[in-house]
Amino acid sequence: MTEIHALIDANREQFLEELKEYLRIPSISTLSEHNADVQRAAAWTAEQLRAAGLTHVQIMPTARHPVVYGEWLGAPGKPTVLIYGHYDVQPAELAAGWLSDPFAPEVRDGNLYARGASDDKGQVYVNIKAVQMLMQASGALPVNVKFLIEGEEEIGSPNLDGFIAAHQEWLRADVVVISDTAIQSLQQPSIVYGLRGLVYFELEVRGPERDLHSGGFGGTVHNPAQALCEIIAALHQPDGSVAVPGFYDKVRPLSAEERAAIAKTDISEAEWRRLTGAPQPWGEAGYTLRERVGARPTLEVNGIWGGFTGEGSKTVLPAKATAKISCRLVPDQDPHEIEALIRAQIARLAPPTVTWEMRALNHGYPALVPIDSLAMECAVRAYERGFGARPLFLREGGSIPVVATFMQTYRVPVLLVGYGLPDDGAHGPNEKFALECLYRGVHTAAALLEELGKRSPEALRSL
Ligand code: BES
Ligand code: MN
Ligand code: MN
Repeated sequence: MTEIHALIDANREQFLEELKEYLRIPSISTLSEHNADVQRAAAWTAEQLRAAGLTHVQIMPTARHPVVYGEWLGAPGKPTVLIYGHYDVQPAELAAGWLSDPFAPEVRDGNLYARGASDDKGQVYVNIKAVQMLMQASGALPVNVKFLIEGEEEIGSPNLDGFIAAHQEWLRADVVVISDTAIQSLQQPSIVYGLRGLVYFELEVRGPERDLHSGGFGGTVHNPAQALCEIIAALHQPDGSVAVPGFYDKVRPLSAEERAAIAKTDISEAEWRRLTGAPQPWGEAGYTLRERVGARPTLEVNGIWGGFTGEGSKTVLPAKATAKISCRLVPDQDPHEIEALIRAQIARLAPPTVTWEMRALNHGYPALVPIDSLAMECAVRAYERGFGARPLFLREGGSIPVVATFMQTYRVPVLLVGYGLPDDGAHGPNEKFALECLYRGVHTAAALLEELGKRSPEALRSL
């Protein structure tokens, strides 16, 4: 039996070269011209699962992008761990400020730069290698594992809930492990215990039947771009809160204890400036930066357009204007209920001079996972072993809607054991994964499976 941690260190070079291969595949799930690339990334993931020693590896079609599955069930009586991740990535264009081609991975200063490096291919890869190294070291795993790696996370996982419902018994596990978040720093690891939900919609405002000369009709027609801006402006109060009646009704208030715990993890204004580059913070009055991001709901404009946006000037009164708007939600807000509340408010705000249509694009539920479970204790130990420090617990602002689905379906602990860093630049230019996160991640992920293997399935399942 080889010492697993020495084996991991001996394979560093290979890990880096293989991960680069994964990152060269532009598996952008939202752009249909990349469908073949998404398929290639699924095939690459499946190949890696096979190489790691998993069996029944399959690429399973859905209505859009496939799910990759693989298992190793050679440890009867031991816990079963479901490992979830995603092989799809967000779009990336060189012109958006990348210093190197987003799909030509490059190491600079100890970081691997590429779209998907951190979100989430690098972190999926970490878990596959942890399994492979454990297999190579001892010919078996300390637990049973099932991998579920999807290709639609970045578009809101439209087919995943149906997939899980259709394969509920087959996917059943005692604990779910997800590596798709960040730790605070290499010196201070952290475990995410809260994620926000999401409702995403498009709002289209129409005025005249066609674009008009703004000289001939300006001043007599309610410009749809202006009307859209008026509606959007009215969706916030001056104090930064969301101005939709009922929006906060189901928001669980923060206890004094939780606020004190969150305060220990607050971001300084200087750090916030370094991460954003914006002149100064903004947001809901009465809440700290960390509370605004992790524990309070928001409403954001993701994009807005209409009329003439090309080079130079064109005097025109546009026929329509559109915005993509989303809300991040916290327990116990329901994305479908929030959609209905916003729809009702827009109906009240929209003037009779325009018509409008609101189209919901996706819904995801928020999640809070208990931090005092036995499974969580295993995750804490794994970070202590992989990073040499005790992790903090954090609530994050991002969304992984399947977390709520797993909790509802199986009522087992979900461990959000991430290996990214806060400045990885997910979804933006120059996304990176620190090589140190890659290597320590493999050690930690292997340690986690070892820790989970020391417990009984029944004990691990308890919340
Ligand atoms: N890995 C992120 C989720 C995340 C981001 C967790 C930041 C914690 C901190 C995931 O890939 C993601 O981007 N999710 C989307 C979900 C949406 C498309 C439904 C998100 O949060 O915008
Ligand atoms: Mn992700
Ligand atoms: Mn993402």
